[in-house]
Amino acid sequence: MSQKEQFISHLAEGQVYKKDFIVMGTGILNGEPIQGAQIKVPLKTMNRHGLIAGATGTGKTKTLQVIAEQLSLKGIPSVLMDLKGDLSGLAQPGEASDFILNRSQKIGVDYDPMGLPVELMSISDEKGVRLKATVSEFGPVLISQILDLNDTQRGVIALIFRYCDLQHLPLVDLKDLKKVLQYITNEGKEAITKEFGRVSSASVNTIMRKIIELEQEGADRFFGEKSFDVEDFVRSKYGRGVISVIRLTDIQSSPKLFSTFMLSLLSEIYETFPEQGDDDKPKLCLFIDEAHLVFSNASKDLLEKIEAIIKLIRSKGVGVYFCTQTPTDVPDSVLGQLGLKVQHALRAFTAKDRKAITKTAENYPESPYYNTSEVLTSMGIGEALITALNEKGIPTPLAHTLVRAPITRMDILSDQEIDELVKDSDLASKYNEEIDRESAFELLEKKLEKLEVEQEKAVLPGPAPRTSRRTKQEESLIEELSKNTMVRQIGRTIFRELTRGILGSFSRKR
Ligand SMILES: Nc1ncnc2c1ncn2[C@@H]1O[C@H](COP(=O)(O)OP(=O)(O)OP(=O)(O)O)[C@@H](O)[C@H]1O
Ligand SMILES: [Mg+2]
Repeated sequence: MSQKEQFISHLAEGQVYKKDFIVMGTGILNGEPIQGAQIKVPLKTMNRHGLIAGATGTGKTKTLQVIAEQLSLKGIPSVLMDLKGDLSGLAQPGEASDFILNRSQKIGVDYDPMGLPVELMSISDEKGVRLKATVSEFGPVLISQILDLNDTQRGVIALIFRYCDLQHLPLVDLKDLKKVLQYITNEGKEAITKEFGRVSSASVNTIMRKIIELEQEGADRFFGEKSFDVEDFVRSKYGRGVISVIRLTDIQSSPKLFSTFMLSLLSEIYETFPEQGDDDKPKLCLFIDEAHLVFSNASKDLLEKIEAIIKLIRSKGVGVYFCTQTPTDVPDSVLGQLGLKVQHALRAFTAKDRKAITKTAENYPESPYYNTSEVLTSMGIGEALITALNEKGIPTPLAHTLVRAPITRMDILSDQEIDELVKDSDLASKYNEEIDRESAFELLEKKLEKLEVEQEKAVLPGPAPRTSRRTKQEESLIEELSKNTMVRQIGRTIFRELTRGILGSFSRKR
């Protein structure tokens, strides 16, 4: 057997493909791409998470694009956190240049450029579907997290949520939360003390100040109605999985909001999706570009929760893929859980870099064909060392891979293309209608006033009964609110109580 043939059978040996898979590229031996040595990743293990790492400009984002494309072609939807704004091109066909055709031919795949179904989303004012969540849905744990509260202050938040649950007061946005805070230290003080004990006004003042700080970071745009239903990530069009690109270019300045948003999204998915069992393909894959932003600024507590939820979410058929410069950006406990590893070139400028390279090399399976540290520093752009999990859950042999080119556009969409995409989006019209927040706040105020009156009469307050004095407009508003918020909120709260029980760390903090 020639060395080439040996190499091909070495790569094939560790791979079992009874079920469907995606092709990432082809194996490279002694600097030469080898025909017939395609590197495949089984769909079955794509819920086992992954890492795409490498120095700047080595091809991480394009690899992410390639994986999302191949999944989409198999009908599997994905969610992409687009922190640099360079992923919108997925909606348009790529360009069949000689360079790309030549690359595809070496890999042994057809180059069939096409645009894929893309849904642009945002948690701020960027164009696209607005992803929002109500304060209630966010829950006391995450609210405390994002406000960076100490244990006493967390207690106050937990009390507020409990109180609002009991009183059926919808906490929609931050304004609502501030209103309740104000209420429990003023008009409602006596009733609250009677029912829950004394609440420190110093704690309430601190929480109030932190909410105002959070609003200044722009988080107030994220809280509100209509809250996003994560099942809307799981869609397909013409048999192709919809790729939801969440545009987060403006979030780099508020990393805490980003980490908390990530955790809220993951826990929402975890709570909403049914158990998937041992399926042949993932239900959804989530890609986080520039993932160091999630981890570098997160508190220990937040990190622990992110790690816990990443472990658990696998069983829901959801794969999470981190894209970052060096694997050391990702905590060891998360790294240890990752099935697919795509390592692009690393550059050795400093002693610290060399240390990171040695450490990275140690984390990959040994290969008789490569000196891993050497390959790590010498790979070209769009090449990577890849190891996946085969269908038996065993790591496949490490392969220096020429990664296939994206079939969609490598560049971004023009403003006009973005406008058209958003205009045609049925999800955008579903979620972007402005629900009058002022009215929700007023309703809350009214409820509080009413509770006050009831308290004066020394009657234990219950849910506000309907009064005949309401105008038609108010009636329909209340109806709308109870449809959208209250009923859903109560249902979800009960559900959350159950699921949070599973997430030990969540329930402890409640
Ligand atoms: N698989 C590929 N096929 C063809 N060209 C590629 C491929 N991967 C990378 N390239 C080329 O390399 C360039 C840089 O790739 P990419 O943007 O993915 O790098 P990156 O690692 O994400 O960089 P950064 O750290 O700056 O975000 C691309 O614009 C493209 O020209
Ligand atoms: Mg990139």
